[in-house]
Amino acid sequence: MMLQQCILRTYYVLALVLCISASEDFAWTKNEKTSFFYGTFPTGFSWGAGSSAYQTEGAWNTDGKGMSIWDAFAHKKGKIFLNDTGDSSCEGYFKFKDDITLMKDMKLNHYRFSISWPRILPSGLKNEHINEKGIKYYDDLINMLLENKITPIVTLYHWDLPQVLQEKYGGWQNVSMVNHFNDFANLCFERFGNRVKYWITFNNPWSVAVEGYETGEHAPGLKLKGTGAYKAAHHIIKAHAKVWHTYDMQWRSKQKGLVGISLTADWGEPVDITNQRDIEAAERYIQFYMGWFATPLFNGDYPQVMKDYIGRKSGQQGLGASRLPVFSPQEKSYIKGTCDFLGLGHFTTRYITQKNYPSGLGDSYFTDRDLAELVDPQWPDPGSEWLYSVPWGFRRLLNFVKTQYANPMIYVTENGVSEKMLCTDLCDDWRMQYFKDYINELLKAIKDGVNVKGYTAWSLLDNFEWDEGYSERFGLYYVDFRNKNKPRYPKASVQYYKRIISSNGFPNQREVESWKRKAVETCSSSNQLLAAARRKSQGDQEHAGMQKAWPVHDEV
Ligand SMILES: *[C@@H]1O[C@H](CO)[C@@H](O)[C@H](O)[C@H]1NC(C)=O
Ligand SMILES: *[C@@H]1O[C@H](CO)[C@@H](O)[C@H](O)[C@H]1NC(C)=O
Repeated sequence: MMLQQCILRTYYVLALVLCISASEDFAWTKNEKTSFFYGTFPTGFSWGAGSSAYQTEGAWNTDGKGMSIWDAFAHKKGKIFLNDTGDSSCEGYFKFKDDITLMKDMKLNHYRFSISWPRILPSGLKNEHINEKGIKYYDDLINMLLENKITPIVTLYHWDLPQVLQEKYGGWQNVSMVNHFNDFANLCFERFGNRVKYWITFNNPWSVAVEGYETGEHAPGLKLKGTGAYKAAHHIIKAHAKVWHTYDMQWRSKQKGLVGISLTADWGEPVDITNQRDIEAAERYIQFYMGWFATPLFNGDYPQVMKDYIGRKSGQQGLGASRLPVFSPQEKSYIKGTCDFLGLGHFTTRYITQKNYPSGLGDSYFTDRDLAELVDPQWPDPGSEWLYSVPWGFRRLLNFVKTQYANPMIYVTENGVSEKMLCTDLCDDWRMQYFKDYINELLKAIKDGVNVKGYTAWSLLDNFEWDEGYSERFGLYYVDFRNKNKPRYPKASVQYYKRIISSNGFPNQREVESWKRKAVETCSSSNQLLAAARRKSQGDQEHAGMQKAWPVHDEV
């Protein structure tokens, strides 16, 4: 999933909230409130849950897997909250059969997971060494999903670049990644494509580019302000297009699958909808976020507003060329139309207002946009500090995609909410509310004519949340990370989501209103189980400590 907790951005939000909320009451939001819509999703709508390799698999050096940039990054001290790593995480590599049982119990139609590039190509390169044990793991996972009638939706790049490619070439700063990634993707099509029909090339390339190469909060941790993100994104877009063409030329007629990309974006709403400058600032926010990737893939080039703003600011800096790279005419036509479906990740919304940043003073992706982000202090803020629950933003974003990109086929690939740290309450009322409200706005968007085919709750399990370590829990299932068996416990939202799935939506008020109460009936007993298990494991630890202090001399 994505996390955009750039310190810079958080600062704007907090600072501006203070001054704005003092003078105004966010009166305009009152018009946004819409009533709940009872109804069902189209027949065949696909319900799922998601995960990614580094966040859940663990087994970081098992069975011949190579190092990824996330292994290297997390092993450095001071990069991840509490210096945690994904070394063992949920042990999903060993427990995938149990996890498929959980999915089956929820009656999921699909499961979205990612393939770890260095698990099957330890050096990153196809012509050097293929790790058959890694291939076998994904074979077994895919086969078991299909046996249980769960459709695999497979992401090829969920951020875990082979570390060797970072060291040798500079990772996504280097155009040579295009061919290396294409070789890896081609191998996946060859080995898994007879069974996998939904491929996602990249998950949230915005985050790869901005947090990996601009702010450095994510692996590989580079801080190439003002250039690194644009260059990485440029190569990622080319790599996506190449992989789409590879599939189209070599595999599509035989395998009959689809190749898309998964973009994550917040919605940006103008602070003052009567102010043209705010309206344009909000438009820029979205174009610099989603349009950066979607516009080349659907229309052949970067959004005009990005070319204008970055070009002008580069000129003011005295640079001879724009910091935003340029596609040649051949590249534009090669890239245009390379998206069979759009994967969409969405979590929250911001208010946007115009704000000028003079160039020459630390130009960056963020200052290039000339805007500031705000939040309404009245928005519910149940989990991660950046994640406010603003359901109506979801419907607007979906309608924006429909009108901007000629109504493409959409799969929602990520949507969900975390909980505060140390919260071990399995009766997650706020998550049930979040799913209810966001999925309802999705239903409204479908009634608006947006072409959405599936929804993926993020995430199946609590997992390694990147730089936040294990402190942010997005899972439907709680994972006790302190127990080395990593047991899973259902939160109440499992029951709630199950009812949405079995009803294919929200049938009627009387029924929907009973769901929360019914879901909470089971979670208190789960709470007790978890508490008992924790007491026991603490007891075991103390007992183990005693044995160390006073060894039993029975070996004499
Ligand atoms: C993480 O590692 C750094 C560097 O060794 C150390 O200063 C810091 O205290 C560690 N943090 C925790 C929570 O252990
Ligand atoms: C890209 O990798 C090649 C080696 O294949 C190297 O010669 C070149 O300097 C790299 N370029 C960048 C920008 O790092």
